[in-house]
Amino acid sequence: MSGPTPLLDTELYSLFAKLGIVTSSAAMARVLRQAWKAAYLSDITLLIEGETGTGKQVLAQGIHILDQRRRAKAFVTVHCGTVSESLAESELFGHERGAFSGAVGVRRGLFQAAHGGTIFLDDVNDLPLNLQPKLLDVLQRGMVRPVGADKETPVDVRVISACNQALEPLVEEKRFREDLYHRLNVVKLALPPLRERKSDLRGLVLACAARHRAIYEPVNAVDADLIDFLERQPFPGNVRELEHGVERALFGKTEGNSLNLADWTSTLATAIKPSEWAREAASALWHGIFEQGISYDIALQEVERQLFEIAARRGPHTRRELASCLKTSERTVYEKLRSHKLSRSAPSQRSA
Ligand SMILES: Nc1ncnc2c1ncn2[C@@H]1O[C@H](COP(=O)(O)OP(=O)(O)O)[C@@H](O)[C@H]1O
Ligand SMILES: [Mg+2]
Repeated sequence: MSGPTPLLDTELYSLFAKLGIVTSSAAMARVLRQAWKAAYLSDITLLIEGETGTGKQVLAQGIHILDQRRRAKAFVTVHCGTVSESLAESELFGHERGAFSGAVGVRRGLFQAAHGGTIFLDDVNDLPLNLQPKLLDVLQRGMVRPVGADKETPVDVRVISACNQALEPLVEEKRFREDLYHRLNVVKLALPPLRERKSDLRGLVLACAARHRAIYEPVNAVDADLIDFLERQPFPGNVRELEHGVERALFGKTEGNSLNLADWTSTLATAIKPSEWAREAASALWHGIFEQGISYDIALQEVERQLFEIAARRGPHTRRELASCLKTSERTVYEKLRSHKLSRSAPSQRSA
């Protein structure tokens, strides 16, 4: 996996394809070049920024494998969003026997487990504030002290963190410590969302289909109608969402070796099952129409207006975020907000 310096974009694509990263888009080549350099030539700390499902984990693992000094040692993932606040310190740094009630044996923390290798701090934006100074201290001094221990142990790890939202606004809002931010963000690799690398769709669909070769009929082509359709999807869940869509389409496919729009949409219909909430909404509409004496069109309009109002009020700030939450296009959001005169509740840019 070593070889000479990849100079051309195509060399980067084939190198990273071996690591499970399928791409042929210029936006990705920039990121991959930086990743290769970081892995191969240095021990630098990296921060991978990208929406959920853009491939942060696969990229981090790829960097570990390209790192000749560290690849034989462990790659350890810390799920920062799910470490329990009370047990996190012992999970991360270990504990001595009897350090606290329930600490029956000695426990090796995740940092010690990663010694010599790579520690991947996933969803670092969700790291509880009270743990941030402890993490910073370990990163700065390269020493960990297990809970209840009186001696420190040195740890040698490369640190790669991932965030699914930009850290800078969190620093502004004092939800993320600035000193830790600077320590983690030595080099930032920003993974573009799938909707911004449309040229990758075909390759990704084929790669995802290939992963299921053992179960479903092989697929070796993608029809233009499906590509056309996929190019217009917002994919808030990015490659992960595409993967699930491909599997669903393969599951429903009845004939041929080319995946087409009909394969995709036929299974979509079974994925949307008539559900309790839809029945309740329909029944509420029925009442509205009869009791209020309004028309079907007006009733639907009013429901739509209120849906957008709720969505805009419940958090998403930008039009893109709103589109992503509602699993629709930015254009639809723009038009609906405008027609319902809601434009001010969801400005296109986050207000300063
Ligand atoms: N460029 C890519 N090529 C092939 N598969 C990818 C690519 N990016 C992501 N994936 C796949 O998509 C899924 C989500 O990737 P992951 O690295 O877990 O994303 P994230 O950590 O950003 O949420 C995984 O199954 C991964 O293998
Ligand atoms: Mg992830």
